[in-house]
Amino acid sequence: MDRIQAAIARARTERDALLAGHRPEPSAVAPQPDAIVTPTPGAADAWSALPIFKPDAAHLEKNRIVTRDSGAKSAPFDVLRTRALQQMSAEGWTRLAVTSPGPGCGKSTVTMNLAFSLARQPDIRTLVIDLDLRRPMLANLLGLTDRHEITAVIRGKADAATQIARVTDNLAFATTRTPVHDPAELLQGRRIGDMLRSLEERFAPDVILFDLPPIMVSDDAIAFLPNTDCALMIAAAEQSTLGQVDICEKELAAQTSVLGVVLNKCPYPGDGQRYGYGYGYGADADG
Ligand SMILES: Nc1ncnc2c1ncn2[C@@H]1O[C@H](COP(=O)(O)OP(=O)(O)O)[C@@H](O)[C@H]1O
Ligand SMILES: [Mg+2]
Repeated sequence: MDRIQAAIARARTERDALLAGHRPEPSAVAPQPDAIVTPTPGAADAWSALPIFKPDAAHLEKNRIVTRDSGAKSAPFDVLRTRALQQMSAEGWTRLAVTSPGPGCGKSTVTMNLAFSLARQPDIRTLVIDLDLRRPMLANLLGLTDRHEITAVIRGKADAATQIARVTDNLAFATTRTPVHDPAELLQGRRIGDMLRSLEERFAPDVILFDLPPIMVSDDAIAFLPNTDCALMIAAAEQSTLGQVDICEKELAAQTSVLGVVLNKCPYPGDGQRYGYGYGYGADADG
């Protein structure tokens, strides 16, 4: 958790600098003595040894992944990142699920943007796992052509180190390509729990982000949620109804801790073309 505290302090410094109209030089970021941690023996090696994949910047941008660099576009995700880290750090949580009432609300887009925003916190190591097994999208969004299958790791048929790609020093993705038609049994039970514990022991991530299926389409997400510490719900403006958000929030709250609701695809007033993000957060969430 020390690393998360250090990252929150760093994020505040960066945000204040951004609000003041300039980017901080590395030397302007206050030193963070808390960032010195004792890694799990071997974890640094296992993480560093993961195969590297360098995503194409234009491909990411085309897919609305805008958080590789800090700036106006990344700002809403950076706020989301910092608030999530604050709450997770306070509670000692590491496993964060992203889900939504229905499909197409922006789960994968938000997961990716949150991941790259986290990756700009050098002290935080983030592992992203695509568990939307009927519609896995993260490999496509990354432009990853390797046929990684996290499902093979869950089934015990492949070694995790061969199915994870590291895209920066501190961000890695466990993706899958082949859709699974009845994933609920893969997403619950002993095997996936064992896999997660093994990933944590081997790679020592500070945060694991899960891109989950929607809540109201199947029982896949509900089957997996007991493996998480907390969840974000992505609702799409003009698509998710209040009734759906309400049901989904109750379903989520029965299985895990709800960090908040992200209202995605909000039309900007007076501009029918552009869309953005907004947040309702925690107990104060109001849309
Ligand atoms: N804020 C946004 N504004 C406009 N389009 C968006 C926004 N967020 C996501 N999208 C688009 O909506 C579609 C569905 O998003 P995706 O992240 O795949 O949803 P999900 O994972 O919930 O099914 C994609 O084409 C994506 O680019
Ligand atoms: Mg998706």
